[in-house]
Amino acid sequence: MKKDAIFDLSNVWKVYCKKNGACETQALRGVDLRVERGEYAALVGPSGSGKSTLMHIMGCLDTPTKGKVVIEGKDVSDMDDNELARVRREKIGFVFQAYNLIPGLTATENIALPMRFNGVGRADARRRAKELLRKVGLDEREDHKPSEMSGGEQQRVAIARSLVNDPDIIMGDEPTGNLDSKTGKEIMDVIEGLHKNTGKTVIIVTHDRRIAKRAPREIRMLDGKVVK
Ligand SMILES: Nc1ncnc2c1ncn2[C@@H]1O[C@H](COP(=O)(O)OP(=O)(O)O)[C@@H](O)[C@H]1O
Ligand SMILES: [Mg+2]
Repeated sequence: MKKDAIFDLSNVWKVYCKKNGACETQALRGVDLRVERGEYAALVGPSGSGKSTLMHIMGCLDTPTKGKVVIEGKDVSDMDDNELARVRREKIGFVFQAYNLIPGLTATENIALPMRFNGVGRADARRRAKELLRKVGLDEREDHKPSEMSGGEQQRVAIARSLVNDPDIIMGDEPTGNLDSKTGKEIMDVIEGLHKNTGKTVIIVTHDRRIAKRAPREIRMLDGKVVK
């Protein structure tokens, strides 16, 4: 029997066009990829091979030029921005290399903000934000602003924020790329803990061989295609 696919991509293309209409960059050139529920995979390949483009499409931050992207049985290939935002909110937690926290807000407030957008009350949002900070091992930094935290601490806040809607899928585009190797390892421990303890599907782009080797599956890209 076929297992339960969380991602099913067939013949996915992404062509970037310039403002003058010239479409010259084929960032993805026919990607076929299946990821089962609960998998933990590293996405690797040389710079420019299409990793970020693929992550953005799988993470519903962008749409393919051609081809089919199915997430948990739902075809998202032709969705408009509102529909994509909804899938993203319900299913996907995204962690970026650059943390992308709001500078003027504390750790707690950064995590509470997306909940407030979803209509959660102020007190409930703060309570849950603090609970998520505990989960990533950062409860003693709850009132610190990003500039008052180390890179590793900021990334923990970003991970906590990605968990706000309890997504089935965690995606990271070089989440350890700005961190020293010891801190990067600690961040991967946090992400792996989520995979082990809650069965979340995890896909991480990384340049770091040691980090890639931790994942049971390696998805390798070359020139806009998945080669392995
Ligand atoms: N927004 C964009 N506009 C035009 N070209 C882009 C854009 N994003 C990426 N590209 C190009 O697409 C190719 C794949 O890029 P990317 O997906 O960022 O690769 P990777 O993450 O593996 O380094 C590269 O040639 C890159 O220059
Ligand atoms: Mg990239």
